[in-house]
Amino acid sequence: MIHPVLLCGGSGTRLWPLSRKSYPKQFTRLVGEESLFQASARRLTGEGFAAPLIVTGDPFRFIVTEQLAAIEQAPQAVLIEPEGRNTAPAILAAALYLERTDPDALMLVAPSDHVIPDPVAFRAAVATATDRARAGLMVTFGITPKHPETGYGYLELAAGSDPKAQTPQPLARFVEKPDAARAAAMLTAGNYLWNAGIFLFSARTVRAAFEQHAPDLVAGVTAALDGAELDLGFTRLAPEPWAGLADISVDYAVMEKATNLEVMPYHGHWSDLGGWDAVWQEAGPDADGNVCSERASAIDCRDTLLRSETEDQQIVGIGLSDTIAIAMGDAVLVAHKTDAQRVKEAVAILKEKG
Ligand code: GDD
Ligand code: MG
Repeated sequence: MIHPVLLCGGSGTRLWPLSRKSYPKQFTRLVGEESLFQASARRLTGEGFAAPLIVTGDPFRFIVTEQLAAIEQAPQAVLIEPEGRNTAPAILAAALYLERTDPDALMLVAPSDHVIPDPVAFRAAVATATDRARAGLMVTFGITPKHPETGYGYLELAAGSDPKAQTPQPLARFVEKPDAARAAAMLTAGNYLWNAGIFLFSARTVRAAFEQHAPDLVAGVTAALDGAELDLGFTRLAPEPWAGLADISVDYAVMEKATNLEVMPYHGHWSDLGGWDAVWQEAGPDADGNVCSERASAIDCRDTLLRSETEDQQIVGIGLSDTIAIAMGDAVLVAHKTDAQRVKEAVAILKEKG
């Protein structure tokens, strides 16, 4: 049995004003009919998969259960972090939780905010990598890099490995978020893949990796789980030990240090929707390059994204090109598409203004 572990933390600022602290992007309908979270849960169902284990924060607990119920799913458990401490403590908590009921548990850790449009191909890749995970390896999923992105981890394949292979390949190194020069060099080198942030390993293997590379986290997370309380079916991790944990991602805490790593190259489409330009792309622009939501109309526009997020609001663009316009009840974003990554500056300014 593979236990899907869905991480639902963090609030992205790059998709403001739709993605908010109180309602992060994974719960919104950015592309398609379902939320990214629902699509992620649905992707990891079927033969060989247990019900998902969700790791999230208190404000999102009911959104999680409601959105799962809407697709006729129920979680096997929802672990509630007293505060976000990044992915390392979240993944470790899931591993320790699973190991207590199933010492041989395999876990597929996945973000809940990515787009992977071909679930069949993705499940096939997971199935291909399962034996390696059972054998004690930590398998990451790798994407052919397309540009020198500095917001991703890079996977350096071991000598003789093939980035185009359809089977897991040994890794020489895991490089989290390189600077621009290093990212460019890795893109040119050709023996690197992007880390999709999706991991397959046994609970036992990942716990051992934490014991070796981040022992302080093991003590704290164990105490948080020992002191956990059941509340309306939610498993609330104990706040006191949790408060003392380092805020660190699994990539820095474990993956960059581990040597028992392999990568399963994934050749299907993948996007982490890291900005409105990516949303425009993923939504499938029409013949003029436009993407319009309901209640949005484009007249003589090109390569433009227009979205109305409010029931009673129309948005009309005339003569625009390469423009993003997102209208919410309390905020409107209008930006040039090439400036999509600067939306986080708007969030910073608004925070200052209170
Ligand atoms: N439960 C929980 N608690 N989830 C969290 C927390 C937390 O404290 N922090 C982050 N997450 C969730 C996010 O909601 C997201 O689904 C996932 O974990 C990854 O976190 P991000 O903050 O989005 O990481 P990133 O995008 O900067 O980098 C990771 O993903 C890249 C691919 O998108 C890394 O794994 C990179 O190496 C990778 O390339
Ligand atoms: Mg991310």
